[in-house]
Amino acid sequence: MKNAHFAVFIFLLSLLSLILSVHSQSSPDAAAMQALKTSLGNPANLGWTDPDPCSWDYVVCSTDIRVNQIRIGSQSLKGTLPPDLRNLTSLTTLDVMKNELSGPIPSLAGLSSLQEVLFNDNNFTYFPPDFFSGLTSLQTISLDYNSFEVWEIPVSLTNATTLQKFSANGANVTGTIPGFLGGDVFPGLKSLNLAMNNLHGQLPESFAGSAIETLWLNGQNSDTKLNGSVSLLQNMTSLTQVWLYSNQLTGPLPDLSGLTGLKDFSLRDNQLTGIVPSSLVNLPGLSTVNLTNNLLQGPTPKFDTSKIRVDMRTGSNSFCLDDPGFPCASQVNILLSIAESVGYPVVFAESWKGNNPCDASQIWKGISCDSGGSITVVNFQNLGLTGTISSNFSQLTSLRHLLLSGNSLTGTIPTKLTTLSKLEKLDVSNNHIFGKVPKFRQNVIVNIHGNPDIGKDNSSFTPGTPPGGPSGTHGTHSGETSSSGSGSKNTGKIVGSVIGAVCGAFIVGLGVCLYARKRKRSSRVQSPNTVVIHPQNAGDGNAVLTAASRWSINGDEFATIQVLRNVTNNFSEENILGKGGFGTVYRGELHEGKKIAVKRMESGVVSEQGLAEFKSEIEVLTKVRHRHLLALLGFCLDENERLLIYEYMPMGTLSKHLFKWKEEGLKPLEWTRRLTIALDVARGVEYLHGLAHQSFIHRDLKPSNILLGDDMKAKVADFGLVRLVPDNGKHSIETRVAGTFGYLAPEYAETGRATIKVDVYSFGVILMELITGRKAVDASDPENVVHLVTWFRETHSNKNTFQKAIDQSIELNEEALASITTVAELADHCCEKNPYKRPGMGHVVQVLSSSAELWKPTETISYDMHEMELDIALPKSHSLQPESLSPLSEVQVSHHSL
Ligand SMILES: *[C@@H]1O[C@H](CO)[C@@H](O)[C@H](O)[C@H]1NC(C)=O
Ligand SMILES: *[C@@H]1O[C@H](CO)[C@@H](O)[C@H](O)[C@H]1NC(C)=O
Ligand SMILES: *[C@@H]1O[C@H](CO)[C@@H](O)[C@H](O)[C@H]1NC(C)=O
Ligand SMILES: *[C@@H]1O[C@H](CO)[C@@H](O)[C@H](O)[C@H]1NC(C)=O
Ligand SMILES: *[C@@H]1O[C@H](CO)[C@@H](O)[C@H](O)[C@H]1NC(C)=O
Ligand SMILES: *[C@@H]1O[C@H](CO)[C@@H](O)[C@H](O)[C@H]1NC(C)=O
Ligand SMILES: *[C@@H]1O[C@H](CO)[C@@H](O)[C@H](O)[C@H]1NC(C)=O
Ligand SMILES: *[C@@H]1O[C@H](CO)[C@@H](O)[C@H](O)[C@H]1NC(C)=O
Ligand SMILES: *[C@@H]1O[C@H](CO)[C@@H](O)[C@H](O)[C@H]1NC(C)=O
Repeated sequence: MKNAHFAVFIFLLSLLSLILSVHSQSSPDAAAMQALKTSLGNPANLGWTDPDPCSWDYVVCSTDIRVNQIRIGSQSLKGTLPPDLRNLTSLTTLDVMKNELSGPIPSLAGLSSLQEVLFNDNNFTYFPPDFFSGLTSLQTISLDYNSFEVWEIPVSLTNATTLQKFSANGANVTGTIPGFLGGDVFPGLKSLNLAMNNLHGQLPESFAGSAIETLWLNGQNSDTKLNGSVSLLQNMTSLTQVWLYSNQLTGPLPDLSGLTGLKDFSLRDNQLTGIVPSSLVNLPGLSTVNLTNNLLQGPTPKFDTSKIRVDMRTGSNSFCLDDPGFPCASQVNILLSIAESVGYPVVFAESWKGNNPCDASQIWKGISCDSGGSITVVNFQNLGLTGTISSNFSQLTSLRHLLLSGNSLTGTIPTKLTTLSKLEKLDVSNNHIFGKVPKFRQNVIVNIHGNPDIGKDNSSFTPGTPPGGPSGTHGTHSGETSSSGSGSKNTGKIVGSVIGAVCGAFIVGLGVCLYARKRKRSSRVQSPNTVVIHPQNAGDGNAVLTAASRWSINGDEFATIQVLRNVTNNFSEENILGKGGFGTVYRGELHEGKKIAVKRMESGVVSEQGLAEFKSEIEVLTKVRHRHLLALLGFCLDENERLLIYEYMPMGTLSKHLFKWKEEGLKPLEWTRRLTIALDVARGVEYLHGLAHQSFIHRDLKPSNILLGDDMKAKVADFGLVRLVPDNGKHSIETRVAGTFGYLAPEYAETGRATIKVDVYSFGVILMELITGRKAVDASDPENVVHLVTWFRETHSNKNTFQKAIDQSIELNEEALASITTVAELADHCCEKNPYKRPGMGHVVQVLSSSAELWKPTETISYDMHEMELDIALPKSHSLQPESLSPLSEVQVSHHSL
């Protein structure tokens, strides 16, 4: 028993002495660690007092008492790091991040165990180029946010082939991104963060095929930033987060369909061009996309905004239309495919804005048009273009001059160009075109000088090695310079004359028509009133919105903002005619005394609904033309301005004459007048409902939307809420209920389903107002608000009371009373609760016109003014779509028959 106890005692004693002896044998890293401690300005923060570093906080040693980990991040440490750290040959982790350490970072070359190094967020001043030599186990290095003197990513990094994360944001890194930073050298590199440095040059080819998932190269501060193409993103299929924003990257986005893990894609603030590929739009995992402030072209892409946070602020790109998903006009598509064949150069993307290459207010670089809106001249001379000549030039069927000289174009002249029947001149001189020149019509001038390999059979020719650069060819063909010089002069003339002709067309349209008969169009006066009118390939235009957006941009009629400022006395207070749905209406006077009304949308608050109404109005008014619908003379789209230009209606609104005649010092309207006004309105609405070959619902008929001309002829105005009904009005459309209380049909107010019968109801209310002189809803007596329809029906049912309900200002005689009785019945009928029981507008017109017929208005009304205005509204030379032409020609027929 005693022996056993003794043995245990001896055992414990020897164990203790073993432990003591191990402990007293200090770590071989003690000296280096002491050097570290000494070099820190305030080591007291760490409490490193024990002689043995392996017992220090924040230090982890291995069993063989070598220092493995130093984790002294975020300890408010000052001072420097000593070069002796290099002696810690077992070190795997060195974490000193988020302190105030300064001085140079010591080289850790040769520390082959080192896996993780965190120097970020300090005040280090220098990063040694040999730092990575022999760091064969390195996985993570963070150098972000230090005040390094400029440095380049050193070649020694290639030793760290196990690297997974390289992070040096805001670290004064300069130079180009080295070509070795790719999948070949770093197969495990997943995160490369080099944002906010001074890098320049292009993304290295070596990125293609890399395993990089997180790529931050945003916000380089160098003069040129990162530039060149992003095409290799196509082959970086592991990417999940791409931040390349605030650089000068150019060219189109590539096919991104392979990047199936992509979540976050920010390439904003670059100079990217071309069409946003559907392969990006369709990526399943996408959650954030920022493409704002580029020069992207084509249709605005339609992302699933319910899942993806998208920012591409359309105005900050060169999309043809603002509405996501709507296709561009066909001439735009052709030009874009042509631009594609030369890599979508910035020079085009910067100036090709909007959806109309022939828009005179936004000259498209290199494009000139005739007054019919077809492209006649393409002048891409000396633009430094590379790439090939697109065969799609052949789709510009009105093309007369195709001038491509002085670029670096290669490939052959497409045979298809010979199908251009109007072509007069083809200049491809001073490029790198090769191959046979196709046979053009005899009178086409073809200039092929300065293409060393032109005419040679291309079968033996390898493109890509053009003998002699572009500058060389320029020099040797100086004789040609004059010819190409005169070519561009010609183009200048053509541009000038096209614009001149277009402006002339406007002046004919707005100014001269009125005087044409008097002056026999003697003068095509140039004037500052350059409201430009030109037609556009109209397309099918079935869907209201598609057509609206097309119209709004293409500008069938178009006014420059400056002109409208001039004519409205800079939108002065005195010129205000009224305020209405989303805008103020101003009177304007053109140079020849012709008055117009200009509706200006409240600037700043161009709300989505306001914009929709603006578009709706343009859409409707460019399609429907009728003498009883207020004509749109033009519209103006500017950065922040949305203006509609109407014919001017001097007598103002019906509501003024009906409800405010006393205050305005007007005569009350006689019954005959009221009757003819009702008939005018009915005809306008009838036309809207069906005769326009499409069926529109006005949705906001009321006396303040009925305008009166000099002769008191009435026109329906305010088409902001108009909607197209499918199938010529047989169906209803579901909308947000809009309109004006008091005029809303009950079924529409309840369900939001609108049919043309909604307008019939409102019209019935207007009839009641014409009869009674009372407002649909009288707000003057808020205690006792009576809905006119209810009240009217009650009084109407009783013959005795009814007579008292008639507006006192109407001079009643037997005939008038009979007529009023008829109209009152009609009004009742129009305001049936059941929409199916209400008559159609055709019936309404019939009843009213026979009543008016019986009444034979005393004076004959001159239509002259109106027909002239209609003539003004739409110059004949313009090719609108057939469906909108027919109503127009109807009007013109009546005009000529006068
Ligand atoms: C680190 O190693 C170098 C050379 O191997 C030696 O000169 C230096 O004294 C060592 N530092 C310490 C603190 O032991
Ligand atoms: C870095 O050093 C500068 C002076 O050289 C000093 O103003 C700054 O506060 C320091 N930053 C940190 C994080 O220590
Ligand atoms: C980058 O380095 C340059 C030159 O070494 C220096 O002048 C500049 O202050 C550094 N920039 C930063 C942000 O540290
Ligand atoms: C890689 O490391 C070895 C030593 O480990 C060194 O000799 C070589 O120079 C390093 N390579 C580069 C490119 O720095
Ligand atoms: C990119 O910028 C460099 C200068 O950093 C310039 O030499 C080069 O031409 C540019 N490349 C492109 C494609 O713009
Ligand atoms: C992408 O990879 C394909 C083959 O996988 C190659 O043909 C193409 O040139 C690569 N594109 C880029 C931009 O590297
Ligand atoms: C997109 O970038 C712009 C700056 O160009 C920025 O203001 C905006 O917040 C970004 N949008 C998103 C969704 O990140
Ligand atoms: C020509 O345009 C059509 C679409 O209009 C397009 O599919 C085709 O790729 C284009 N061809 C060229 C050579 O750009
Ligand atoms: C040579 O040109 C013809 C058309 O001119 C083209 O079809 C053919 O592909 C070209 N061959 C080469 C090798 O470029």
